[in-house]
Order: sequence, then C-alpha cells, then structure tokens
Amino acid sequence: MRVRALSVMDECCRIAAMTEEPGRITRRFLTAPMHDVHAHLRSRMESMGMTVHVDAVGNLRGLWQPAGASGKRLMMGSHIDTVPDAGAYDGVLGVIMALEWVQIARELKSPLSIEVIAFSEEEGVRFGIPFIGSRTVAGRFDRVLLDCADSDGISLAAAIRAFGLDPAGIHDAALDASTIGFVEIHIEQGPVLEAEGLSLAVVTGILGQTRLTLEFTGHANHAGTTPMLLRHDALSAAAEWITQVESLARNSEGLVATVGKVIVKPNAANVVPGEVDVSLDLRHAHDASRIFSVEKLIETANAIAGRRGVALRRTDRLNQPAVPMDERLTSFLADAIEATRLPVKQMPSGAGHDAMVLATRVPSAMLFLRSPGGLSHHPAESVLAEDIEAALHVGRKFLERLAAAIR
Ligand code: GLV
Ligand code: MN
Ligand code: MN
Repeated sequence: MRVRALSVMDECCRIAAMTEEPGRITRRFLTAPMHDVHAHLRSRMESMGMTVHVDAVGNLRGLWQPAGASGKRLMMGSHIDTVPDAGAYDGVLGVIMALEWVQIARELKSPLSIEVIAFSEEEGVRFGIPFIGSRTVAGRFDRVLLDCADSDGISLAAAIRAFGLDPAGIHDAALDASTIGFVEIHIEQGPVLEAEGLSLAVVTGILGQTRLTLEFTGHANHAGTTPMLLRHDALSAAAEWITQVESLARNSEGLVATVGKVIVKPNAANVVPGEVDVSLDLRHAHDASRIFSVEKLIETANAIAGRRGVALRRTDRLNQPAVPMDERLTSFLADAIEATRLPVKQMPSGAGHDAMVLATRVPSAMLFLRSPGGLSHHPAESVLAEDIEAALHVGRKFLERLAAAIR
C-alpha cells in the first residue's frame, strides 16, 4: 500500500505541472491546461476499463461498471481547478483517490458501479462564482450564469464553446436516480488533525458561505492638487470597511470573514482612487448568524460610504447554507475507519467542497486527510504517504460495507 500511496502523490504532482503559469500552480476553469488534465485522466480511466466523457460544463466523468453490476452507482470525485499559486493536492487528491478506490472495488470484485468526476470548477476564481461543476451535476445550474463574464470579458457561455463544448447540453449533465450517493476525499486544509496527531477524519457537515462583491465608487482626481477634505477616495472607504470586517469576525464566535481580492481603479500612485471592487467571503456553521453578520457588514459599508460621499453597489455571488453530511454514508465511513484500527475523528469543514452542493441532491459524505502545517491554498500544501495509505485501507472497508448494504 505504501507504494500505491506514493504513486498517488506522484500523480498529483504530475497534474500540478499542468498549469497556466510556469513555476506556479494555477489552473482556472476551462483554461488550456484543463485539456491536458482531461487527456491524462481520460487515458488512465480508459486503461482501467472505465467509460469516459466530458459533460457540457467541462466535468470529466469516468464510469466503472463491473460485469453483473447492479443498476446503482456511487459517485466520487473532487475538483481539478485551482486557486492562483495553489498547492498540488486541493481537489486533485480527491480525484486520484477516487480512481484508487475504483481499483480497490475491482480487486474486491464489487458489484458496485462507481462514477468518478473531476469537477471543472469549484474555486470560483475565473467567474467569481464557485461550484459551477457540481451545481451542474446536482441539477442546480442556473442559466443566467451563462452571461457572467471573466476579467477578460469572456462570458461563461463563450468559454464553454471555446473549450469545445455546447452549453445547450448542461441540463443533460445532471445526475439521475441511479446515483445512490457521493463521497469526496479531500485534504483537511486546516490544522486540527495534525494538532491531534490523527491521519483521517469523517466530516459531519460543511459551513455555510456567503460571497459577494462591494463596489465603492468615489471620484478619481489629482493626488497633488486635491485637498484632503474635498476627496471622495474609494480606496480609503474600502480600507476602513475591510478593517471592520476583520474586527467583526474576530469578535464573533464561529465567524470567519475574508477580503481576499481588491481591484483598484485607476491604480496609479498619483491618482486618488476612483473605484474599488472588494470581495467578501464570510462563513459560519449557523446560517442565521452568517446572514446577520453579512447584513451588519453591509450596514457598516453604507455608513462609511455615506460619510465619505462614496457610492456603494453590492453584487451577491454565493449564498450557500451550511450542509450536514448524510448520516448513513458517514457512519459507513466511520465504521471503515474503526475497522482499520484508527481513531474515529468527526469534524466539520470550514472549507467549501463539491460535496456541499451534491448533498442537496444525493446522500453525501467526506473523508479528510491531515494537512501538514495546516497549510492549503498555498504552494507548500502537502499530504503524508502514511495518511494516503490509511485512506486506501479505509476505502476497502467502506466499499465492502456499502456493497453489502445495497445488495
Ligand atoms: C474552497 O476551496 C473554499 O474556498 O472553501
Ligand atoms: Mn480550494
Ligand atoms: Mn478543494
């Protein structure tokens, strides 16, 4: 199993080399390196006897159907898009591990069909809208999204066509009644498992997320001649608000809030900033607390903008409620961990995952692997071979239990 675990890491590193930016891992939705990842995964899936296709939103889907398979299928997978300057394991590990679990199912001669999906979009980097791949599979794709534009003004519909796909087929990509559940394997992306000296955890649920953009519009003007009291500086207004975001989150139990993207226009040293777009990513386990915090921050932004003579416009990008994982599938995972003689750790996920979208359509569960240094969305993100090995053992026990349960 150790050799197999090391080969999983090699595969993730091979895919990490398929990037938009030499020297950094950046692979946004429907960009050229995604074709390379598809070609690589397709050939691997086909060599395993899987039937492969790419759906209308660019999800690569491989189906393992053993001889005498029942009509029911387990869906597994994760995403192959990345944040800018990413690590090698966020998302990709879940796809490669899913293929390893298919291999285990083959060795077990399990009657279970398994569909492995490499979701094309989860991070929300290119269009500011996350989970485009899993929304499509969950049958939750809203066609208004096709008009969203990326930073080059390319619409989602145009990007899909440029990738060689047809947006007209999006509704056909939704899962059907044969899918009995979804399991996603993912790095924890946080410090909890490492601090407790544990390899694996079963995820109990995923925090709700709000993402939005605020546009502060003041007046651009000359930096040397415009008196301080006559300015309507959009960046100063945004900066004041950003400190309030941090302060609210620091003082609210369970709340995390991040401003990770700021676009300043015209972005010149000697011009008072006229317009600033600021992102907000805010998460909480309780939806009411999340919504209350968002409205409080909007009130604060309005007060700051009003006082500074700056206009404010809000664009909502995501309002995703917190999602519990399926109890039955989760208990199979917990039993499988116990059967491998490892402690059963249960924990919520602060990161968003494709499983949170799939969970609105099918029973869904997640298995976490420890993140060394608690590091993720960072090039030094890593994983330990011993933890992959543990997750392979858990896969065997899980698949045995699931096959027995659906027989
Ligand atoms: C996904 O990576 C997220 O932002 O939680
Ligand atoms: Mn991520
Ligand atoms: Mn991820």
